[in-house]
Amino acid sequence: MDKLRIMSVFGTRPEAIKMCPLVKELASRPQIESLCCVTAQHRQMLDSVLDVFDLKPDWDLDIMTPRQTLSTITSKCLTGMDEALEALRPDVVLVHGDTSTTFAGALSAFYHQIPVGHVEAGLRTYDKYSPFPEEMNRLLVSGIADMYFCPTAGNRENLVREGHTENLFITGNTVIDALKTTVKEDYRFSTEELNTLPYEKKVVLVTCHRRENYGEPMRNIMLALRQIAEQRPDVELVYPVHLSPVVRESVDKYLRGAPRVHLIDPLPADEMHNLMARCYLVLTDSGGLQEEAPALGKPVLVMRRETERPEAVAAGTVKLCGVVQDDIVTMAERLICDRAAYERMAHAVNPYGDGHACRRIADAIEWRCGLRKERPEDYQA
Ligand code: UD1
Ligand code: UDP
Repeated sequence: MDKLRIMSVFGTRPEAIKMCPLVKELASRPQIESLCCVTAQHRQMLDSVLDVFDLKPDWDLDIMTPRQTLSTITSKCLTGMDEALEALRPDVVLVHGDTSTTFAGALSAFYHQIPVGHVEAGLRTYDKYSPFPEEMNRLLVSGIADMYFCPTAGNRENLVREGHTENLFITGNTVIDALKTTVKEDYRFSTEELNTLPYEKKVVLVTCHRRENYGEPMRNIMLALRQIAEQRPDVELVYPVHLSPVVRESVDKYLRGAPRVHLIDPLPADEMHNLMARCYLVLTDSGGLQEEAPALGKPVLVMRRETERPEAVAAGTVKLCGVVQDDIVTMAERLICDRAAYERMAHAVNPYGDGHACRRIADAIEWRCGLRKERPEDYQA
């Protein structure tokens, strides 16, 4: 019998971190041929993840350009995907999350009448401009998808409320599967600066890149970080700066030169995860860090007005601090100075998975495609 051909499509750093373990799980199944198509919406940051997971894509659209617009990403992905789908002829296409690659990958599979599985389905803020354009990307992909792999029960409920009632699976998030392979107690950083950081002080790990934060909000964030660093000699800020020129300009203008601030290049995923495991606190506008840091027992302040990940907020390890300078400084200082407030947030919770999401997703696809009798059980947090 011919193997079931499953093509995973991704293009950015976070999609790659969350999809590489799944591509490998699918490859381990005797009845499946696991194919991997990257759009390279991110070039260097994608390649770094592929290196960490030792994965070689079957197809590479190589679309990235500096300061790319949403329209160019989408149109280049769509055109490139035609060729990839015609050459690789998958039976199922998997997309992940909410990037422009995700939307274009799903749309392209639909144009070729190939069933689509959406990994990390059902996250919502219900504000179509925040996060922008991700909230709309995931809504549109929900309309296209044929299988929905939801990290949490809440994500599943969102989809059911919107009328998607078939082929919903609660799997946990594959990022926890990834973390289980990268975080090691005796890890030694290849970035020497990270081996020599004064971990006896309070190391605050920072990331920031969201499009809706471009402009005034990002300026506020940078000034808040500067103020925290200037006011607190007991703190060291470590900030691997995203390669986006918009982000780098803001960092250079408002933050560079502040004391106790380590501005470094993006870290390979294993370095980042092990740094997170050793830091004191995380300040971020990232989606993925809101899932990883709670699993590692690190409090997170989210520099956004909303979050599509309410589970860790409910568990008490993630708080929204907004994008106003004073609010960010006040909330960060509280966690730096007030031990009790810190301890209330610093406990490991795992609403996002047990490290077996990839197994559940592969089982669900096999079941849906008639290769397995039993429907896999839903993940329960
Ligand atoms: C994209 C996703 C966002 C995700 C983020 C993860 C969209 C619309 N946005 O946003 O959902 O949270 O990735 O980081 O899909 N660049 C490089 N090298 C790289 C990567 C980026 O030089 O390896 C620069 C390029 O100039 C590029 C710019 O960064 O044009 C922005 O990249 P882009 O993918 O358009 O947006 P992100 O903000 O990264
Ligand atoms: N990450 C990384 N190196 C870095 C910064 C982040 O490997 O220098 C990882 C991080 O641990 C998480 C993912 O990248 O797994 C998050 O990606 P990003 O913040 O770019 O996107 P988002 O999650 O907001 O979509």
